[in-house]
Amino acid sequence: MKFYELSPDERRKQLGLSAKENLADVDALSENVIGKLTLPLSVIPDFEVNGKSYCLPLSTEEPSVVAAINKANSIFKKHGKLTASANRTGIWGQIFVQKPAKKLDLNGYISVANEHFESLVKHGGGVRKLEQTEVLDLLCIKVLVDPSEAMGANYTNSILEFLKDRICEDFDLIGYYAILSNYPSQMTHAQVQLPVEVLGQKACERLVLLSKIAEVDPYRMATHVKGIMNGVDAALIATGNDYRAVEAAVSRLSSLAKWKIVADNLVGEIDLPMPIGVVGGSISARQDVKEAYHLLGKINADTLAELITAAGLCSNFSALLAISTTGIQAGHMKLQIKNVLQNLDANNEEKQLVKDMMLAKKQYTETSARNFLKEVRKNDSRN
Ligand code: MEV
Repeated sequence: MKFYELSPDERRKQLGLSAKENLADVDALSENVIGKLTLPLSVIPDFEVNGKSYCLPLSTEEPSVVAAINKANSIFKKHGKLTASANRTGIWGQIFVQKPAKKLDLNGYISVANEHFESLVKHGGGVRKLEQTEVLDLLCIKVLVDPSEAMGANYTNSILEFLKDRICEDFDLIGYYAILSNYPSQMTHAQVQLPVEVLGQKACERLVLLSKIAEVDPYRMATHVKGIMNGVDAALIATGNDYRAVEAAVSRLSSLAKWKIVADNLVGEIDLPMPIGVVGGSISARQDVKEAYHLLGKINADTLAELITAAGLCSNFSALLAISTTGIQAGHMKLQIKNVLQNLDANNEEKQLVKDMMLAKKQYTETSARNFLKEVRKNDSRN
């Protein structure tokens, strides 16, 4: 038997690992499965966007991310206004075929595809546009597919392969490739306004300057984008969405979020590609994301895209604010201490004393925690 044909337990045995709890659910999702990885699932219970409160699920192992979104949400809820709007028209796909002698008349192929994929049309989606361009020596037919409430990768690829075969047969052309494009699409906008007096003029000016640096300096731009994707990916992962698709689309863009001061308000804006769904793909097959959807309530893909985009703006805001004021390490290290203390072999009282010493001396590593513990115990034995 080939390795992929074995059960997860048989694979584990072959690798010298002990048997594990039932892995049937994850075995159905991928090949060569031998276990599960665990990530925390957190929530912002009162994430407010467009004046409505949502329970936003987030999944990340990076300690400061949920805290960053939480902080931004608290400030915006109290003093500002966070809004978002999706303008999600569909995802593009490409069909590459032999270049014909004259431009093809593709009128009618939208209907041909929509008749064939009637269940997508019934769900409110379907093929919306066909465009022709030339790439190298080939004709590229670009197809815009509205996947309705799904991310749509499977539907789009099926539609593209169907259209490639049909068009090549009808026009007697050689068909080369049919594949969806991860170029930015399904664009979603979020914006926040906050009176300058809430953070103070100096902090706001510093924050805006840092945002401007990200527009022109590629080293800062990449980090600025990382701070945005911290929030975006956490929401994508918690809702079972394809974060690689969003990452790939974002890689074609620049700093994503921009901050400025307009008439005594700090204003942040972000535009993100949001090729996400609330059904389909592995979402419906995964038990572990079911609770996230239960917490979100009845939500459509546009609204979820708005929440995820807003979460990206929030994580960016808190990062820029921290870097512009206290420095990033103050907050990060408080959270790091939690991790370090968890692994320290000490009682609660000792842990509290070690924590106080770590904060006072600004020393946050495991080694310093162990050294502080030695000091605590030495002092204790003297008393
Ligand atoms: C850390 O994961 C992300 C930040 O570096 C983002 C930023 O610098 O804007 C804090």
